[in-house]
Order: sequence, then structure tokens, then C-alpha cells
Amino acid sequence: MKVPKRIQPLVNDGLIDEVISQLMSGKEATVYMVRCGDDVRCAKVYKEAIKRSFKKAAQYQEGRKSRNSRRARAMEKGSKYGRDQQESAWQNAEVDALYQLAEAGVRVPHPYGCFDGVLLMELVTTDDGDVAPRLNDVVMSEDQAEEDHTLVMHYVKLMLCAGIIHGDLSEFNVLVDDYGPVIIDLPQAVDASANNNAKSMLMRDVTNMTNYYGQFSPALKQSKYGQEMWALFEAGELTPETTLTGLFEEDTDAADVDTVLEEIKAAFEEEEARIERISDANAVDSEY
Ligand SMILES: Nc1ncnc2c1ncn2[C@@H]1O[C@H](COP(=O)(O)OP(=O)(O)OP(=O)(O)O)[C@@H](O)[C@H]1O
Ligand SMILES: [Mg+2]
Repeated sequence: MKVPKRIQPLVNDGLIDEVISQLMSGKEATVYMVRCGDDVRCAKVYKEAIKRSFKKAAQYQEGRKSRNSRRARAMEKGSKYGRDQQESAWQNAEVDALYQLAEAGVRVPHPYGCFDGVLLMELVTTDDGDVAPRLNDVVMSEDQAEEDHTLVMHYVKLMLCAGIIHGDLSEFNVLVDDYGPVIIDLPQAVDASANNNAKSMLMRDVTNMTNYYGQFSPALKQSKYGQEMWALFEAGELTPETTLTGLFEEDTDAADVDTVLEEIKAAFEEEEARIERISDANAVDSEY
């Protein structure tokens, strides 16, 4: 097909040899199938800021700090330079997350870099060579749903251990090839420790996935992987090796009243002793 304007610079630079077809045009990007030498790859062209929905941008951006202070100040001030910096931070967020997640052991498309707002990555295909379907278009057995759900929970855990929450995980952002689920679409990934919405985003991601797989295995809907992971994460006890159970007890134990009372009594006695020491000292002072 005719090379789209935004892809032309990559063709000029020899990164892409041919644009084969347009795969999808979503809210935030248009995705193409391209040829790079002998490889067929995927090129995701981000829409410009004005054309994107910025509804949640603030929520996602919280805690995403620029390491460069001049850049950070410019981004805050909203100057043209700042907007450009913010734009490239947004565009690079996905390629950064793809590299990090691949490193952490999560199945994501292999990234080849982001150039002029175009992310080049592996095209996920089935063994027959067709573009992999989205999870939303896949029907599966109960056993398969349980196996894949376990795997996706494992991926969510690995992401959290790497400090990342997908933030938009759903059956529309997971592809399925012959080896199982592949996570895609990460430009909104959030920093798990710096974002106040982190917990609710994690819970939403987990709930979306659990509801989807729960259609094929209703028992999954009872699981509490989100709460379990978050509690372990907050306690600093979540590791890539942690075996998740999907079980979670809300902390409903009545407060141990006796211990609390004892602590109050001890604090009171300590305070009395302190006052006594002060008045003793004053008494000594006044003797002189
Ligand atoms: N690496 C890939 N391999 C194969 N298909 C892909 C790949 N990346 C994206 N796609 C296809 O392109 C679609 C859009 O990609 P993506 O979700 O990353 O962009 P988006 O603009 O955020 O889309 P949406 O707004 O629909 O979520 C995906 O649903 C998928 O069908
Ligand atoms: Mg998407």
C-alpha cells in the first residue's frame, strides 16, 4: 500500500522497506503490518495528542517523573518544548515498558524501538501465519481458561514486581497465539509505587481478566488475586517466585483490646515517671 506520511521517515531511514496493510485504527494509534528486510513486523503510529482521548492522562501520568529536571520543568509549564517533551515521553513509555516487561519474563511483542512516534515491534501471529486474534475473539474450554488465567495472573505479578501496572488490561489488549496470551498496548502503564491510583488500577486489570476467563470457568470469579498481590506488594513480600493462591482473607480480626489497653497504661506510667523526674529536678534547682 501507499506509505502513510508518518511512516515515510522510517522508510527513508531504511528501518521499514514496505507497508503491507493497515491492521487497525484505534483510539490512540493506527497499527500497520510492515516489512523490514525479510521480517514482517508491526508498526504502531501514535495519534497526536489532540486526537487522543486525554480523559485519563492525568491519572496515568501521576508519578511518571522525568529524570531530566529541565525537561520536567518544561513539561510542567506546558510550553511548546514542554508539550513536545511530554509527547515523546508518552510515546516512549510503551517501548520502555515493552523492554522492561520482556526482561521480567512477561510475554509481550518483541520491541525494535520507537522512532518519530512510530513503535516498531514483533507482529504476533499464529503458526499458520495469520495475525493473532484478540482474546475477545477467542472461545475456549474451561481447562484452557483456567490455565490461561493462571498465566495472566503470573504476568500481572511479574509486572508488579517490576513496578509496573498495565492500567488498561482487558480482553482487547491481549492477543492469543499458539503458545498462549501475549500482553499488548502499554502506553498507559503506571508506576506501581508512585501512583495513588495504583491499587485501583491493578484491581481493575485483574477483575477484567478474571471476568473474561470466568465466562468459561465460573469458579474463577471467586478468586481474589488482585487483593492477594496488592497486600503482598505493599508488605514488600511479593517476588517473581511467589506462588499465588487466589485466596485472600480480609483483615476482620477484632482489635486485641487487652494489648491496646496495656500499651496505653504503659505509656501513661512512662509519662507520670517523666513528670516526676522533672518536678524532682525543679525541686533540686530551687534548693540552691
Ligand atoms: N504486535 C502486534 N501484533 C499483532 N497485532 C497487533 C500488535 N499490536 C497491536 N495489534 C493489533 O492492533 C490493535 C490495536 O493495538 P493497540 O491496542 O496497541 O492500540 P490502541 O490504539 O490502543 O487500540 P485500542 O484503542 O483499540 O485499544 C490490537 O487490538 C491488535 O489487534
Ligand atoms: Mg488497545
